[in-house]
Amino acid sequence: MPVQTVSSLIRSITSRLSSVGVEDAGTDARLLVRHAFGWSAEQQLGRLVDPAPVDRLDLLELLVTRRVEREPLQYITGSAEFFRRRFAVDPRVLIPRPETEQLVVQAIEFVRSRGIDGPRIVDVGTGSGAIAISLALEMRAAAVSATDISAGALEVARQNAAAHGAEVEFIEGDLLDPFANGGDKFDVIVSNPPYILHDAMPGLQAEVAREPALALDGGNDGLDVIRPLFVGIRAALKSDWSAAYIEIDPPIADPVFELAGKEFPNASVSLLTDLAGLTRCLAIELG
Ligand SMILES: C[S@@+](CC[C@H](N)C(=O)[O-])C[C@H]1O[C@@H](n2cnc3c(N)ncnc32)[C@H](O)[C@@H]1O
Repeated sequence: MPVQTVSSLIRSITSRLSSVGVEDAGTDARLLVRHAFGWSAEQQLGRLVDPAPVDRLDLLELLVTRRVEREPLQYITGSAEFFRRRFAVDPRVLIPRPETEQLVVQAIEFVRSRGIDGPRIVDVGTGSGAIAISLALEMRAAAVSATDISAGALEVARQNAAAHGAEVEFIEGDLLDPFANGGDKFDVIVSNPPYILHDAMPGLQAEVAREPALALDGGNDGLDVIRPLFVGIRAALKSDWSAAYIEIDPPIADPVFELAGKEFPNASVSLLTDLAGLTRCLAIELG
């Protein structure tokens, strides 16, 4: 039997992944091979015509089988990139998405444009902690807190904060409730809440369906979490020179915008689009 080269191994994995409907099968095949063999992209390129190392083939087969079963690549490799850093992820947390980086950008731009020194910031529903940790690292003078109702998610978030040396206060609780009694007020509130319409849950892409339902399901109209979040924001946002940025998606943009207009009559409320032109963020700005 001819020796299998790294490139032929990648080709055969690509075809197995394609045959079960994996979207970017070639990329995933290369990443799985790199992960199994512990190679960088450059090392892999340098070995394409070499025989595939036999000692890690069993491990590679286990990883490929998981991907064939449509487990997200990031759960298999255990990490995801967000705002140019790597974050540990596992099935307790949503895999942070590139479009969510916009919340980080909005928060930083707001703080800088208003010249707020040592802003107090909270990330509601922090999941892996990607948003909160990015903000703490990008704005060293900020005091960043983060909440989540999932104890498992907070374990992952704490681990990520420690790995990045980021100072973030993590609190388990419902939305902004942990701050209600102390009367804490924030300069900036960011949140990527669950907002997928409940009826759309059964039709989710196979990989997305592996992520926690608690992170995705927004109830019948997608606003089950956003409604109480608005109530919490009203109480926790400073009354001047403050802002909240909430990730949404196009199907709920109009009702969320209408609700925000009613809940925040003194604020400037706007919908922001992402780089692909999709409505992705609700901005509530005061002062
Ligand atoms: C869409 S995920 C966002 C995770 C992370 N912030 C990100 O953008 O990658 C929503 C998160 O909100 C959390 N969550 C859901 N309901 C919540 C609630 N009532 N209070 C606090 N967190 C909640 C979920 O556990 C999940 O981690």
